[in-house]
Order: sequence, then structure tokens, then C-alpha cells
Amino acid sequence: MRVAMVGTGYVGLVSGACIADFGHQVTCVDKDGTKISALNAGEIPIYEPGLAEIVRTNVEQGRLSFSTALSEAVAEADAVFIAVGTPSRRGDGHADLSYVYEAAREIAAALRGFTVVITKSTVPVGTGDEVERIIRELRPGDDVAVVSNPEFLREGAAIHDFKHPDRIVVGTDDERARKIVAEIYRPLYLNQAPILFTERRTAELIKYAANAFLATKITFINEIADLCERVGADVQEVARGIGLDNRIGPKFLHAGPGFGGSCFPKDVRALIKTAQDHDTPMRILEAVETVNDTRKRAMARKVSAAFAGVLRGKTVAILGLTFKPNTDDMREAPSIPLITALQDMGAKVRAYDPVGMEQAKQVLSDVTYCRGPYDCIEGADAVVIVTEWEQFRALDLGRVSNLMACPVIVDLRNVYRPEEMKKHGFAYTCVGRAPSHQPVNVYVPPARLDAATANPRHRSM
Ligand SMILES: NC(=O)c1ccc[n+]([C@@H]2O[C@H](COP(=O)([O-])OP(=O)(O)OC[C@H]3O[C@@H](n4cnc5c(N)ncnc54)[C@H](O)[C@@H]3O)[C@@H](O)[C@H]2O)c1
Repeated sequence: MRVAMVGTGYVGLVSGACIADFGHQVTCVDKDGTKISALNAGEIPIYEPGLAEIVRTNVEQGRLSFSTALSEAVAEADAVFIAVGTPSRRGDGHADLSYVYEAAREIAAALRGFTVVITKSTVPVGTGDEVERIIRELRPGDDVAVVSNPEFLREGAAIHDFKHPDRIVVGTDDERARKIVAEIYRPLYLNQAPILFTERRTAELIKYAANAFLATKITFINEIADLCERVGADVQEVARGIGLDNRIGPKFLHAGPGFGGSCFPKDVRALIKTAQDHDTPMRILEAVETVNDTRKRAMARKVSAAFAGVLRGKTVAILGLTFKPNTDDMREAPSIPLITALQDMGAKVRAYDPVGMEQAKQVLSDVTYCRGPYDCIEGADAVVIVTEWEQFRALDLGRVSNLMACPVIVDLRNVYRPEEMKKHGFAYTCVGRAPSHQPVNVYVPPARLDAATANPRHRSM
């Protein structure tokens, strides 16, 4: 099968490389010439574990190539995927479909013979109808089928997710298109991945409903976490207690700083808009969006609370900037509103992220970027763990304590155990579990005082 992948970003590059790995002939197309030149030079423009190897192998074996020439790739293809971005439209929160429609027009101009055009981008219900209308208007009488095939991969585990999906959703009523899409994914359903064939509109809505549901689950546990802090309960035990119920399940029940990333925030906003347009407002989702937005800045108050509300002049070390570990993606990362809020309160911000700092520099200013976690922590009054990268899970706490000017740790991912942190003398705040201390300038735990005598920096507390 010959496949063209239009859009070579996080989804297009992973999908293209994996489909080539199944044995198909894939050309990944992008209008960003720099990206294509980098790929042709053997460089991977994004950080995604395992991606470099799968790209290299398939390029070497002649199944995967990269090009800016959309028309050539499309003319030769049996199937053309649209995997371009669908960000929030400025001003109103609808999905911005301009990239999808532009791609549809370019594809239409290049079609040759029966071709299946498959929308992999996340698009509002009805977009497939419009893509089909655009193509038919430009190429009346041409033989084409427009299919919805939403993608469910997670950045950071994208290759695994693409190759071991919980399900493959295919929205079409065209029998020939079904066969072609089924053929593309054959290696997966030989591995028992269920293929769900639906109407095109249903497939489009499945993607939004899935993301909206997961975002709701995260927001729900975050609000339970806030209640836990007030009533002296432990959100992690509550999450485990409810997650063991098969009807609920344990995933997406980790309390934290609020969801971010390239998908959940924009998809929640877009679904809210779609629902409003169809006069069926989704009140639950509207609340999810509001609660999540306010939560990110509220996390800054957790830091200032450790200093009895006064952050001016304090140095805060941020560990982790990307919206989750194992990606360099900074889109709508909770670190952004958190850092801005800390700066608004007068704090100086230092930061370290294993792979996200280059992207972070484009969205955050007045931040001192550091070479490693200990470099970042040195001299800080507070450390905030924002992204749960593995390397932050087992910090040398003695070293951390000695390096800090003041032993305050705010753990927004509940990576550490409060007892352990107390033992090391930290004033430790986390999410949904009782804090281990009073604000530091009111109370310093006794163990900490011992260490403070040993480290002159701590005398400033
Ligand atoms: N990132 C994820 O984890 C994820 C997961 C599932 C679904 N999705 C959805 O997949 C879609 C793509 O997301 P992404 O994160 O890969 O986006 P991205 O911004 O990383 O990549 C999009 C690419 O498309 C290119 N492009 C735009 N218009 C083009 C055109 N006319 N011709 C050729 N190339 C063009 C851009 O240059 C860019 O490289 C979105 O709809 C998103 O919601 C994303």
C-alpha cells in the first residue's frame, strides 16, 4: 500500500514511521521545509522515545521518505492521511480548521485515481463532510472516499500506543475505503486490536468524547484532592480506593497541577463550542475547563503559602517544564501559568527540564535555565516539582537539602512520601495530602534545624 502522510508533527511522524514499519510505502509531507530537511539529514525534530530508531530503520529499508512535495506524494498514494494541527482558534476556542481545509484543497489538486483521504487530525463533528465537499468541488467526478480515523496515541509513549492501540476507530460507509484502511492496519488487528467501524460523524465525536472524559476524570480527582487537604484525607489512597473499582479504573486519577498539553485543553474547548453551536451545552465540560484553568495559577499559591504568602525576592527552582514526562512538548504546559504567577508574585525563577528547555525558551521569559536538577536547586528558597520525569523521583535528598537556601519543597506530582520528606527536614507540600509543616518562617521542623546549623545558608530562614 502506498501512503502519503500530510503533516509531519508529533502525530504524523509517529504514524508515518509506524505505518512504514508495518511494511507499507510511506511519504511524510510537511510544508515546513526546515523540518523536512532535518529529517532528510537523519535528525528527528521532536523528542519521542524510540522514534529515531524506527525512522532510521524504515528510511534505510526504503519504506519511509520525507518531502515538501505534497502533489507527488498524493498522486502516487492509495491512501492520504491528514495529520495537520487543529489548534484552538484565537478568540473563540473553536478548533481552527484552516490547516485541515488547506491540506484538503492541496490534496484535491493532486489526486490521481481512486484515493482514500483519511483525517487523523482531531476535528469537530462534520469536518469530514466539509473536507469531502472541498474535494468534490475542486475535483467533480473524481473517485475519492473521505474517512475519519482519529488518533489516540500519547506523546511520550507514542510508538507503543500506535502499535498497541486499545482500538482503531474508522468512520466511513464506503466499502472500498474500509478495505484499504483495514489493510493499512492489518498487522494491528492480527494482534487482536479491535477495529471499530462507524459512521464518519460518530468517529469524529468518539475522539472528542474520549479526551473530554479523561480531562473530566483528572479534574474530578483534582477537586477531591482539594477537599482531602481541607479534611485531612489522602487523595492517593482515595484514588486507589475508587480506582480498584472496575467500573471506574485506576488511570487518570493522579491529582496534580491541572491538565495541559497539546490536546486536552483545546479539545475540551472545541467540544464545548460544538455543543453550544448545536444548542446542547455541556455544563460538566464547561466546569472542567474553568476549574482546570484556575487551578494552574492556584498552584503558585501553594508555593507562596510555604512562605506565609510572601514570595517577593525568593528564588524558586522549577523541576520539569513540559506538560508531561518523555516529551519536549510545551503546548499549554501547566508550568507556563505557574511560572508566570510566581513571577507576578515577585519570585525569581530557575528551571531545569531534561528535554523541554529549548521549547520553553520560546514561551517563558526571565527564567534562568540550568544544566541539571542540582544546578537548578542550588541556592533556591523553594523547589517545585512540576513534571514527574524519572530523574526527579530519586533525588539525593541530603544533597538537595545542603544545596538549598531554605528547605521548602512543593511537589505538584506527589512523587515523594510526606514522612520521608519530613525525616529529611523539608517543609514539604504536595497535592491532596496534608502538608508536613507550618509555613517555614513560622515553624521549622526539628530535624531541619540540625541540618540548618550544619549549612550556613539555612540560617537565613
Ligand atoms: N500530539 C498528540 O499527542 C496528539 C494525539 C492525538 C491526536 N492529535 C491530533 O493530531 C493532529 C496533529 O497534532 P500534532 O501534535 O502532530 O501537530 P503538530 O503541530 O506537531 O504537527 C502538524 C504539522 O502539520 C504541518 N502542516 C500544516 N499544514 C500543512 C499542509 N497544508 N501541508 C503539509 N504540512 C502541513 C505543520 O507544519 C506541522 O509540522 C491534531 O489535530 C491533534 O489534535 C495529537
